Amino acid sequence: MARAPRSVKGTRDLLPPETAVWAAVEQTARDVFARYGYREIRTPVLEETELFVRSVGETTDIVGKEMYTFPDKKGRSLTLRPESTAAVARAFIEHGLTSWPSPVKLFYMGPQFRYERPQKGRYRQFHQIGAELLGDPGPWSDAEVLLMLVRFLGELGFTSPTVLLNTLGDEASRAAYREALHAFLAPQREALGEDSRRRLETNPLRILDTKVPAERELLAGAPELAEHLNAESREHFDAVRRVLDRSGVAYRVDPRLVRGLDYYTRTVFEITAEGLGAQNAIVGGGRYDRLIADLGGAEVPGIGFAIGEDRLVEVLPEPFRERASAQPWVVVAALGEVGGGEALLLAEELRAAG
Ligand code: HAM
Repeated sequence: MARAPRSVKGTRDLLPPETAVWAAVEQTARDVFARYGYREIRTPVLEETELFVRSVGETTDIVGKEMYTFPDKKGRSLTLRPESTAAVARAFIEHGLTSWPSPVKLFYMGPQFRYERPQKGRYRQFHQIGAELLGDPGPWSDAEVLLMLVRFLGELGFTSPTVLLNTLGDEASRAAYREALHAFLAPQREALGEDSRRRLETNPLRILDTKVPAERELLAGAPELAEHLNAESREHFDAVRRVLDRSGVAYRVDPRLVRGLDYYTRTVFEITAEGLGAQNAIVGGGRYDRLIADLGGAEVPGIGFAIGEDRLVEVLPEPFRERASAQPWVVVAALGEVGGGEALLLAEELRAAG
């Protein structure tokens, strides 16, 4: 006999009472985000492949090897979204949201798909809760986005999330740095692994977040991006930090934080959590001032983040989890032949009364 069908590798079912925890996390996000003026956007799970190639970037791991891409029956190349920022940008352009009062603040939640090797905290279908702020280039928006995130995590019971912060500078700063890093690493090419050797030519900044110990050692002497920032980029970053300092948000500047998607400019950040092993980033985000224009839209800057909901739920503080999964019970006990019907009607009366 054929075996019973099973869920696809890297995907999973969420069952009660766990689903109640997920719903409570999502409701908290809705509540907190609304206080900052965000409204929900829902974009399709399917997009044209081209969208991600042009935004996330051809040389990234996501586009290079992790996308679920296939031709539809007419031969068009489609992709199950690996992330949603590109989709929000596409929708922003497609529906002319430049005409809305600026900034446009949107949030989303839903499944994303990446063909990665499944392990703890890493799935092929995973879920993100994300937010994007479009239309404001200024540093206060960067700070506000981070404050919203920290408030959200605080309401879930995370007391001191570790916020890692960095700036990639603008395009000019980054080009100068890319050259300096290449010049430093090229003579040591032989000491690099295969992945990093390839990145040296395509995207040398990505070598900075290597996990290979020998490469990390090599990088200890590498030039730093901070040395290549122009005055404008430095001022932007300093302004973000000043607000965060005043608001009491704890963060750490990590000069090696570069993020794995090509659309970022200036501020980038991640939030990590204990207890997840190697996959410890629960939030990733940053500014993307060129994305909308690069996709054919107007010059509209943006900033946003996505929370990995699977990972977040895994390390959720216990009191929130308990509150979320507690369900009140009412027992109506039926006796005898007629009791069943009477009990049912009585229960209905209780339900009608709420
Ligand atoms: P990302 O860093 O690729 O950024 O993903 C954000 C979060 O999604 C990660 O920190 C992680 O928690 C979760 N995540 C990613 N891949 C997996 C996986 N295979 N299994 C479980 N969780 C995963 C983005 O996606 C950007 N769109 C974020 C952004 C929004 N930047 C600006 N706006």
